[in-house]
Amino acid sequence: MAIKVGVVGSGFVGATAAYAMVQQGVGREIVLVDMRKERAIAEAQDISHAIPFSQPLRVRAGDYADLNGSQVVVIAAGVGQKPGETRLQLLERNAEVFRAVVPAVLKAAPDAVLLIATNPVDVMTHIAAHFAGLQGVPASRVLGSGTTLDTARFRTLLSEHFGVDSHHVHGYVIGEHGDSEVLTWSQATIGGMHLEDYARLRQLPYDEALRERIDVGVRRAAYTIIEGKGATYYGIGAAIARIVDVIVHDQRAILTVTSRVDDYQGLSGVTFALPHLVGGAGVLGCIPLPLSDQEAAALRHSAEIIDSAARSLAG
Ligand code: 2OP
Repeated sequence: MAIKVGVVGSGFVGATAAYAMVQQGVGREIVLVDMRKERAIAEAQDISHAIPFSQPLRVRAGDYADLNGSQVVVIAAGVGQKPGETRLQLLERNAEVFRAVVPAVLKAAPDAVLLIATNPVDVMTHIAAHFAGLQGVPASRVLGSGTTLDTARFRTLLSEHFGVDSHHVHGYVIGEHGDSEVLTWSQATIGGMHLEDYARLRQLPYDEALRERIDVGVRRAAYTIIEGKGATYYGIGAAIARIVDVIVHDQRAILTVTSRVDDYQGLSGVTFALPHLVGGAGVLGCIPLPLSDQEAAALRHSAEIIDSAARSLAG
């Protein structure tokens, strides 16, 4: 059966994710759903004009019922960050949107993996898993884009500094997709070598000033880009396309997606990003990183921030 992917929300992120899927040849049919139908129609038309230059997919606008048969439904519906606004400030507005969207998606596509991209993505994934759970969907089938983008930003900056293709730079950003995220410097490697060893080998600087510069570059990237152009969408669009590809082809890749974490270093029932094994059924497992004490403490702090945001909503 042809691989079908749904995208709910045709704003910058949803539309760019669909465009990235066309570029990467992910799936065979993409259905865009938006409460502003005209917008979904226009985006589908625009994106489909790129098909002769890219991969032979079909992109069309539809209603929720047209999501039927989708293997993955990306949910990018909701409002985005305004300049200066944190992702957590979006929470209440977007939680209301999900109350309607998640059941509508599952009614049409009861077997789909749900991939949440709406910010604040960790809490929104928690909320989506809650609404999906009411319909019997296991939490492992609801994942968020999490810190896949932050991990990409980290690898990009390391790649630029060390002069190595980012595909050969490994380093995870975990925790909240937001201000409290944790760059796991202690685990970052190039060619199997820790960064300080690689730096020594190549006679490149590797010190606190560099780590601070890269930390700020990753952590503040969204703010800087939003100040400059109003929104971020290329990076996240490509990240979403990659996650969808992994799911629809059951690739069993390790990605820093958001998922509900049970019993991880004393943390349970909190939804945040860790390196997860991802495949056709969604999240297949979590990879425990041997973090430094400082990183482990920062991760607990990050998880607490997400947990208290989720609880504030419940209360
Ligand atoms: C980003 O990190 C705004 O969450 C979005 O680019």
